[in-house]
Amino acid sequence: MTSKYHSVYANWQSDPEGFWQEASKSIDWFEEPKTIFDESKGVYGRWFTDGVTNTCYNCLDRHVNNGKGNDVALIYDSPVTGSKDKITYGKLLSDVQACAAAIRAQGIVKGDRVIIYMPMIPEAIVATLACARLGAVHSVVFGGFAANELATRIEDCEAKLVIAASCGIEPSRNIAYKPLLDQAIELSNHKPNSTIIVQRKQVLADMIDGRDYDYAGLLEEFEGANIECERLLATDPLYILYTSGTTGQPKGVVRDNGGHMVAISWTMESIYGVKPGEVFWAASDVGWVVGHSYIIYGPLMTGNPSVLFEGKPIGTPDAGTFWRIISEYKVKSLFTAPTAFRAIRKEDPAGEFIEKYDLSHFELLFLAGERADPDTIKWAENMLKVPVIDHWWQTETGWTIAGNPAGLGLLPVKYGSPAVPMPGYDVQIVDDGCEPLGANELGNIVVKLPLPPSAMPTLWNAEDRFIEAYLEEFPGYYKTADAGYKDDDGYLYIMSRTDDIINVAGHRLSTGAIEEAIAGHKDVAECAVIGVNDKLKGQLPIGFVVINSGVDRGADEIEAEIVAHVRNQIGPVAAFKTAIQVSRLPKTRSGKMLRGTMQKIHDGLEWKMPATIDDPAILDEIKTTIDNYRSK
Ligand code: COA
Ligand code: AMP
Repeated sequence: MTSKYHSVYANWQSDPEGFWQEASKSIDWFEEPKTIFDESKGVYGRWFTDGVTNTCYNCLDRHVNNGKGNDVALIYDSPVTGSKDKITYGKLLSDVQACAAAIRAQGIVKGDRVIIYMPMIPEAIVATLACARLGAVHSVVFGGFAANELATRIEDCEAKLVIAASCGIEPSRNIAYKPLLDQAIELSNHKPNSTIIVQRKQVLADMIDGRDYDYAGLLEEFEGANIECERLLATDPLYILYTSGTTGQPKGVVRDNGGHMVAISWTMESIYGVKPGEVFWAASDVGWVVGHSYIIYGPLMTGNPSVLFEGKPIGTPDAGTFWRIISEYKVKSLFTAPTAFRAIRKEDPAGEFIEKYDLSHFELLFLAGERADPDTIKWAENMLKVPVIDHWWQTETGWTIAGNPAGLGLLPVKYGSPAVPMPGYDVQIVDDGCEPLGANELGNIVVKLPLPPSAMPTLWNAEDRFIEAYLEEFPGYYKTADAGYKDDDGYLYIMSRTDDIINVAGHRLSTGAIEEAIAGHKDVAECAVIGVNDKLKGQLPIGFVVINSGVDRGADEIEAEIVAHVRNQIGPVAAFKTAIQVSRLPKTRSGKMLRGTMQKIHDGLEWKMPATIDDPAILDEIKTTIDNYRSK
């Protein structure tokens, strides 16, 4: 099939509002928008400003009203607990109504914020949809974050309620969430009024009378409740999702209701190639943006059974789990991060597990979250015999900026490139002075304003930070903070970040935040964290630390303490395991840390002595220290 991509993109370019107006017809509105884009609203304009709708209605009620109440909405598969379940739209709707009633009984009304701190269990999805139904703004926090990170989020969004589970289950251990939640509430200057806790039998939570309520008990109490969907403006916030910024204070990305639904619905068939009824699986986590867009909202809106998988690509129980799920549920499209495939390949390089399963319904593999290295793509193509499609996006946009849209007909794949900009995105490469660069010239990747529907209108309670972080440096453009180039055919290549964000196993982390955590250790005078290459996780953070004079404990002991401190402050997800002691850190004469040079030295890449370095001898010392550390 020849691709319709070019004509669709040209349609959007010639009439952006017409394009999104047409797309907006795929969702149900209580009042259809008459204004498609209002450039006078918000920071750079707002989409569908007078439309009235509800996201939960579009995910559940309309399917039930259309006679699909008995169709499967969610497929829960949890190798870590041995549970499986298929949940219909009808059942999900009644659970969501009961949960919404329970949330309302806690005094939550439209606009209030609710933190959700949960593993990959159906209750996490029930809770998010219940918030959406009431117009309460949910903020899901990934389970791999420690109490301190949870506290930062509770405080920033001033959550009135926290909905959590008693534990998460990692292959090697159970993680008790409730002590982390109690500690987070203790740490936060803002205190939620109450919590609702899903008690899982693996670890039961201790409850505080009058503050903590049992989820199952409440659902029983409110069973059969009839809670109408709140009438919301398209521009009302659906959720806040915190993501790493340059400091320890995460950025609260705001997502609206209307624009989000319109864009995400459009992607399901156009990009992911699934028609209603076909099974979609995003092997991610509800705590990440991929989970929001493609475990919860996208598939539910367009009527694609969505797989909710509580497990890992390897070790639960083996590297064949993904193929078992695909064959058991007839998954058509799978979306995951390249790191998952690197993990599977490491365990099963010859693809022996793949041969054991019937993958005849499997048609498309999508990779995102980090650069998809050509080696991994080729391995997956050879093993699975399906197109392997890299696509590039960010928490900030909620959907693909550049990709290869399977539903419009695939364009030729170029290894190392996530292909071409999607309608909605005028992607350009500019130099530091915002001058356009030519084909194959490396520069800053920016998107011409306005951003399309679903992209964030602002940061929660931080409009100035939003403008400063994303809009000020390149006037008229959104700064993606990725660097790369476009080739002669307009294919994009995403090469690196321009800030201090690193990507660890598809998880976005701030080296600045890790540095802040390390600096909190009593013996640390100064530190620098860099992301170094890692075969499995793409990047790994490592720290260089200068210890206060007079500290005479062994280097190993201090390293272990610093590692534990970071784990305690940020969480295991930081995957921080290395803190190398040095006598000084390399800086320019103006005091700027030479992190890029340190990274090149660590990774054995070519590097040049920076002309502005304060003391050239220090880089030799760093190299020797790294060599000594490695040979330990
Ligand atoms: N709750 C609590 N702890 C968690 C967690 C969660 N939800 N998720 C991860 N962790 C812990 C892990 O147990 C691990 O702890 P450890 O240091 O004690 O081993 C640590 O955080 C680091 O996790 P991770 O980087 O994910 O490494 P891993 O070795 O557990 O697994 C992969 C490696 C590649 C299998 C895993 O990262 C993976 O499946 N990635 C898929 C990519 C993905 O989901 N990306 C999201 C965006 S699409
Ligand atoms: P997140 O907000 O967690 O989705 O992370 C977004 C960042 O991950 C982007 O700015 C990129 O740096 C990186 N990223 C995501 N997808 C890709 C991709 N397909 N190729 C290269 N980098 C990617």
